[in-house]
Amino acid sequence: MSNKKLSTKPYKGVRDFYPEDWMFQKWMFWKMSEVCERFGYQNYNASPLEPSELYEAKSGSEMINNETYNLIDRGDRRVTVRPEMTPTVARMVANRARELPKPIRWYSIPNLFRYERPQKGRLREHYQLNVDIFGSDSIQADIEVIQIGAELMKSLGAQEKDFEILVNNRKIITTLIQQYTDSTEDLYKISKLIDKKKKLTTEEFNSSISEILSERSEEFINTLETTNLENAQEFADKEDIDNTLSIITKLSALGHTNVRFDLTLMRGFDYYTDIVFEFFDTHPDNNRSLFGGGRYNDLLDIFDMEKIPAVGFGMGDVTAKDFLETHGLMPQLTSHTKVYIGALDTSSLAAAETLANNLREESINTELDFSCRKYDKLIQSADKKMVPWFIAVGEDEVASNTYSIKNTITGEQKNSLSIEDIISLVSN
Ligand code: HAM
Repeated sequence: MSNKKLSTKPYKGVRDFYPEDWMFQKWMFWKMSEVCERFGYQNYNASPLEPSELYEAKSGSEMINNETYNLIDRGDRRVTVRPEMTPTVARMVANRARELPKPIRWYSIPNLFRYERPQKGRLREHYQLNVDIFGSDSIQADIEVIQIGAELMKSLGAQEKDFEILVNNRKIITTLIQQYTDSTEDLYKISKLIDKKKKLTTEEFNSSISEILSERSEEFINTLETTNLENAQEFADKEDIDNTLSIITKLSALGHTNVRFDLTLMRGFDYYTDIVFEFFDTHPDNNRSLFGGGRYNDLLDIFDMEKIPAVGFGMGDVTAKDFLETHGLMPQLTSHTKVYIGALDTSSLAAAETLANNLREESINTELDFSCRKYDKLIQSADKKMVPWFIAVGEDEVASNTYSIKNTITGEQKNSLSIEDIISLVSN
């Protein structure tokens, strides 16, 4: 056995969640769930292990080649730790496609794993809210999922001016590229370049496009920059333009006026077929994509079954937290423990214990500190553990059977309270 001491740090790019961190995560998950359930979405879950073929069919080759954690199990099966939830939920829907009443409205908050270079907003593990509707090709479904995204932002405390919703239609951009090339390979390459456009310098982007389109590249880049939904009519299908416009107009009628068409919005995955959208932070210190999604009408075809159209999005916890921090919207959280009782000496311990049990019987979460330390030390622990109420039990309290209770957040103190008084005070 080696004598080498092990590091206490987590594996690169993943996080440990200490209780105060997990308290925040749970708050965020609760916000996410609350909004989804308000729209009638049902919660589901699955294992993080999937057969590797599930991702090879449609996700986008970059993800499979570079970003997945793969392993061979003891039975020689190729297994992938899920990098995203969409293929899993598609598989689950396909498996029960006939029984499930449509449209299916589901949400989930899985832990996902991607072998990425850890940086701001990107880790190797993150939690991602997935909101999806299966079985409807109506634009009402696209509108609904985008509306849920906007409501989520609102429920996190954001105002319309704090973020922007960019919308594009894969069919419109594809038709534009097809005006310049007949080759499917070039179409794919150009789509990927547009997807990466924001990460490239203008020179890098322009020269890569010109390698593919040679003398027509300038005209293409110019069209890409100047096209809006009106002049897109010159090359795109009327139906695609009308649908995109209707989505933006209806969202605006619903009060979401920060929605804008952006022809260069691609989104990485190959399975998106129509509308794609992304929520962007408008703050200069965090001017980046927060989350996004789109319509994927053909993904379920990989399961040899009837077509099931789908639309949805994924919202990561890391980018959501960055958003909250940037905008000063982090919540002031307290522990789920409501009362911290500290015995000041061994002779008061039994009374402290009785008081704690009385409160627990009333379903008031109560921690008992039986270390019999000084008042200052006890209240410091309550404070550090973010427990909002603190009671010290000593000789005086035992004699009078009344207590002083202090609010660790406001500093306010109430004296000479009976157990009944305490119960009614902390229950409110
Ligand atoms: P995605 O754009 O790859 O889409 O991820 C969605 C969101 O998850 C991102 O916008 C970001 O908030 C978060 N995210 C992704 N990768 C990381 C990472 N490495 N670290 C931290 N956060 C990350 C999808 O995954 C699609 N499957 C979403 C979807 C659901 N489309 C339809 N339904």
